[in-house]
This record gives sequence, C-alpha cells and structure tokens, in this order.
Amino acid sequence: MNTYGRISAPRLATLLGSWRQGSRQGAAALAAAVELQVLDGHLPVGTQLPAERELAQALGVSRTLIGAALDRLRESGLVASRRGAGSWITPPGTSRGQETFFPRDGEDIDLVCAAPPAVPGITRAVDAARGALVEQLGHTGYGERGLLVLRERIAQRYTERGLPTSPAQIMITNGAHHAFGLTVRMLANPGDRVLVDQPTYPNALEAIRGAHALPVPVALDAEGWDFAGIEAALRQAAPRLAYLIVDFHNPTGLLMDDEGRERLAALLTKARTPVVIDETLVELDFGDEPAPKPFDAGEWSILVGSASKSHWGGLRLGWIRASEEVLSRLSSSRFGLDLGSPVFEQLVLAELLADPEPLRRRREDVRRQRDALAQAVRTHCPEWTFRLPGGGFWLWCKLPAPMSTGLAVAAASHGVQLAPGSRFAAHGGLERRLRLPFSQPPEVLDEAVRRISLAAAAVRGSARPVT
Ligand SMILES: Cc1ncc(COP(=O)(O)O)c(C=O)c1O
Repeated sequence: MNTYGRISAPRLATLLGSWRQGSRQGAAALAAAVELQVLDGHLPVGTQLPAERELAQALGVSRTLIGAALDRLRESGLVASRRGAGSWITPPGTSRGQETFFPRDGEDIDLVCAAPPAVPGITRAVDAARGALVEQLGHTGYGERGLLVLRERIAQRYTERGLPTSPAQIMITNGAHHAFGLTVRMLANPGDRVLVDQPTYPNALEAIRGAHALPVPVALDAEGWDFAGIEAALRQAAPRLAYLIVDFHNPTGLLMDDEGRERLAALLTKARTPVVIDETLVELDFGDEPAPKPFDAGEWSILVGSASKSHWGGLRLGWIRASEEVLSRLSSSRFGLDLGSPVFEQLVLAELLADPEPLRRRREDVRRQRDALAQAVRTHCPEWTFRLPGGGFWLWCKLPAPMSTGLAVAAASHGVQLAPGSRFAAHGGLERRLRLPFSQPPEVLDEAVRRISLAAAAVRGSARPVT
C-alpha cells in the first residue's frame, strides 16, 4: 500500500475535535470519530496515522484505548497496519479482498455535472441568429450590459412572472456563476462574511472563498428554510451579503413559497443585507403547483438567472436583474474582469426565448428523467429516501449510513462519477446525503443507479459504521 502523507498527532487530535460524546468516551467513540473524518475526506486514503504513543499523548488517553480503537477500525476495513510500517487509511471496499470492479461497457457515467445537452430546436435559433447578426456587424461588439433585444426578452419574462422589470434593470453575463462572481467581487471585501444555505451550490462556495470572504452556513432541514436560523445569523455574523437559492434549490430541490419569500425579504431588509438570489433552476418547473412570484427585497435584491439549464450551458449566458443603481456599480466593477458577453450567442438566446416550445419540451424530458431516476432508486436502493421535487435537476437522497464520500470513491470503480454530500457543505459533513442529478436519459440513469447500488453494498460490507 502506498502512503501519501503522514498526519501529525496534534493535527489529528485537532481534526477529531470533541470526539468524546456523553457516555461514549471509549474506543468505539474514537473509532467512530476517525471514520467520520475519513468519510468527510479529511483523512484521505493512504494517510499514515501517527504512532500509538504520540496519539495517546495528544488525545490525553491511554495507549490501550488507542490500540482498541485501531482494532475496531482494522476490523471495519478502514485502517490497515503492518509491524514496522505503522497504520494507514485504506480505500473502502478493498481491505477484505473484495472484487469491487464492475465490468464497464463504454464510458463512465458522470453524475457530478448536472447539466443537460442543448434543447431541441437550438439549430433553428442559430440559423435565425445568423440573419440577425448582419445588423450587429456595423457595431463594435462590446457592451457590458448586453444586447437590448435579449434584455427586453428577459425583462418581459420577469414582468410576466409578477415582477415588473425594464431592460435597464438587466445585465447580460457569461452565466449565472459569472454573475455571482461579479457581485461577490463588488460587495464583499476580504474577511467579510457571506450567508449561505447549507447545503448549497459548491461553486458558489468557491467564489466566496476566491474573494477571500467567509461563508456563514445556515442549515436547511427536510422541510425547508430555517428562518429563525437566518435571522440569528444575520444578527450575530453581520454578513456583508447573502447568497440563497429559493427555486428548486441545488442540491435539495426545495422551492420557497410566497410566504417564505416575504418573510425572508423582511429579514434581509431589516438587517440591510444585500442578497443574491440564484434563479438558475427557476424555469425547470414541472408545473404541478402555481409558481411563486420572483423574490423581491427592493433596492438590494440581486436576482441572478441563467440559460444553462433551461436551454444550453454551452451558450455561457446568464444575467443579473437589479436596480439601475446596483447595475451601474456592477458595470464599473465588471471592467476589471471582462468587457461583455459574445454577441452571436446573445442573438441565439434571444431567438430561443421568443419561442416557448424548446423550453416546454425540455421540461417534459426532464420530468420523465426525474420519474425514471426516482424509480431506479426505489428499485436498486430501496433503503434510500428522498423527496420528489416539483422541478430542477436532482434528487437529494438520504443514505442509510454516513457513507457518501466512501460511496463516491467506490462508485468510480463501477464507472459512475458522484459528488458526495460533503461537497455541498461549507465545512464538510453531510455524509448521509448524496445528490443524484436527473440530467441524463432514463436508461442511463437506471444503469447508473444499478452500479451505485453495487458500490453501496461494497462500502457497507467493508466499511460499515463503527458502533
Ligand atoms: C444553483 C446554480 N447556480 C449557478 C450554476 C451555474 O450556472 P451557469 O452555467 O449559468 O454559470 C449552476 C449550475 O449547475 C447552479 O446549479
């Protein structure tokens, strides 16, 4: 076994934190704490553990207790040891000599990226845009706000959804992520705090950290948003900005109702905290219930949208809907990053938005895929539970044990790429959760879940939770 690095005893002691819980202070509690760190990815496979004596000293316990904890971890297949070489973390599913490889036909199935291919009918829009391009060729092609024809169509959609909007309140960006990046850059200084949902979209966490700001997570529960928790975080952490997804939330699929939106708007307004509401998924609504109105908290509510899920990620187009004052500040800060979005793609999107048919078919396809994925999970992984979302792109599955990271590692051996629950958390955890996107055809989803069920059996068989 290759070992990839040694963790010092004091560092491991810090990582394990308060591993003594109530009456559970013995070897079982210590082994469980180590296992959690492995599942969370803080102790990668191959990590060499400190010598028993050093760890005993760092944790302030006896060597006998350390030895007993290591015995448990060896038994559950998480740790291997050899005389003279010490102990190290082993990959799930390998230590009992199990064969975990599943014969693959074809490529890995990617369930990390939850994005669909282009909508049917996009080539017609491309042809139409070619005609409209002629008129643009006499202009410079630069413009940090974007083409008027596209801004008009986006503004009209907001107005139809119940939020009167003028084209002057829209800025076209290179995707929703770019839009959020611009906003964080404008509003948050290094060291500032940014309130986020937990779980949340991982790239948003990256953007916050990229601005040297600190995410302040407020946990969502199975029922939805914890408004009391948000209120407390706004008061105690005084965040400079909030980033929230209220439409078919990534990754839980939750939709905030009108009452929740009003409550949230009131809290943010009272705290005078600007908010970015990420509406990337809003158009993937299967229409089972009336759609809530767009979020509105007045001057400092910044809505961010995208064509990536509704039409195609390859257009790399999104937008910001904000007050004219906020948009003019955003325009100035944009010049430090880029000078506008590509004209031809904007023309293509303007054509797509003028025709409701591509989006209608997209919704139909995605709904069918949702049902297929739900059925596949019920069939192959009957112990898993989930809430069936009314839109969006993913099931947020609850696993029968804290095994998400181990499962992601094992699933790769079965030809399926997964993002473990911890990727959606600001500081790790969520090991009982797995996001499964339904962005692929039903037969691919069924095959993926079948393979995942084999990986899950291997993980649970070899690295079952230490009790
Ligand atoms: C919530 C959320 N925001 C933003 C993005 C990225 O969108 P875009 O491709 O428009 O940058 C995604 C992509 O999955 C997403 O789920």
